Amino acid sequence: MVRNIVIWPDPLLKKPSLPVDRVDDGIRRLLDDMSDTMYAAEGVGLAAVQIGELKRCIVIDASPRQEGQKLLHLVNPVIVRAEGDTVYTEGCLSIPGEAEDVDRFAKVWVRALDYSGKEFEIEAEELLAIALQHEHDHLEGTVFVDHLSSLKRELIRRRMKKLKAEHASEKPEDVKKAAQHRSAL
Ligand code: NI
Repeated sequence: MVRNIVIWPDPLLKKPSLPVDRVDDGIRRLLDDMSDTMYAAEGVGLAAVQIGELKRCIVIDASPRQEGQKLLHLVNPVIVRAEGDTVYTEGCLSIPGEAEDVDRFAKVWVRALDYSGKEFEIEAEELLAIALQHEHDHLEGTVFVDHLSSLKRELIRRRMKKLKAEHASEKPEDVKKAAQHRSAL
């Protein structure tokens, strides 16, 4: 089911998400809603908090822009290793229409539970590595604008408040309309 997306600034997006005890049908339904919502908004990744659930769940599909990729479900993800530096122009489905350069690790190793609750580890570079770091930030209550200067962040905050005032709804169709950048995470 496609759900509404929480738009920044919102107090919910600053809250840390809680670990999932068990990957059961309720969590799988949440993961399905997350991927439905991500695809409806044409995003590359989404964290559960972005549809209003403070659970440590993320979905990512970097396949349109990175070879060999597919839909990934990650429950309780942990970044176990990171190396190298890179700069990537990031957007966020919760901050539609905005994109800025963010400093990230070039390569990360992430351990998580999959859709069936089985533990797995992935090694990621390029967009997938960026998406994993961006979504992991969401689980800690951090959004990409928190990595920017306060001046840039305040300008974006002003534009987002205007956008929120204009759009009563936060439906993925509206988010898609505003998101002109290529990597909404
Ligand atoms: Ni995001």
